Amino acid sequence: MTILKRFGVSLPGDLLARFDNEIEQKGYQNRSEALRDLIRDYLVKRDLDKNEEVVGVLNLVYGHHVPNLSAKLNDIQHDHYHNILSNVHIHLDHHNCLEVIIIKGRYSEIKQLSDRIIGTRGVKHGELSFNSTGKNLSGV
Ligand code: NI
Repeated sequence: MTILKRFGVSLPGDLLARFDNEIEQKGYQNRSEALRDLIRDYLVKRDLDKNEEVVGVLNLVYGHHVPNLSAKLNDIQHDHYHNILSNVHIHLDHHNCLEVIIIKGRYSEIKQLSDRIIGTRGVKHGELSFNSTGKNLSGV
């Protein structure tokens, strides 16, 4: 069970007003919830900097008709089967596929694997984003 602790923060009035305005637009119920998310965001970035284990989400758009491309992308993922958690393939239209690959591992491993996939000929665009595995983010 998480015990919530309170602490006071002193801020310049205009900075607090900008913060309140920003979090209201984002739909936060209160400052505490917004501050918790900011701290967790900081912790996820710290995990990346320290090359800790994180979860990466790689999404790709690639050409369906490029010869051997699906097999190549499959081969790369089999080489790293211990990092690949899941994979979703969607046929966007007659020519294009969207694939979302969820990868767990150290930041450097995920980045290297992702660069290899995105750099494969026929992959039109790729985006990699990161999140925590959750174990460093306690509480509500
Ligand atoms: Ni497809």
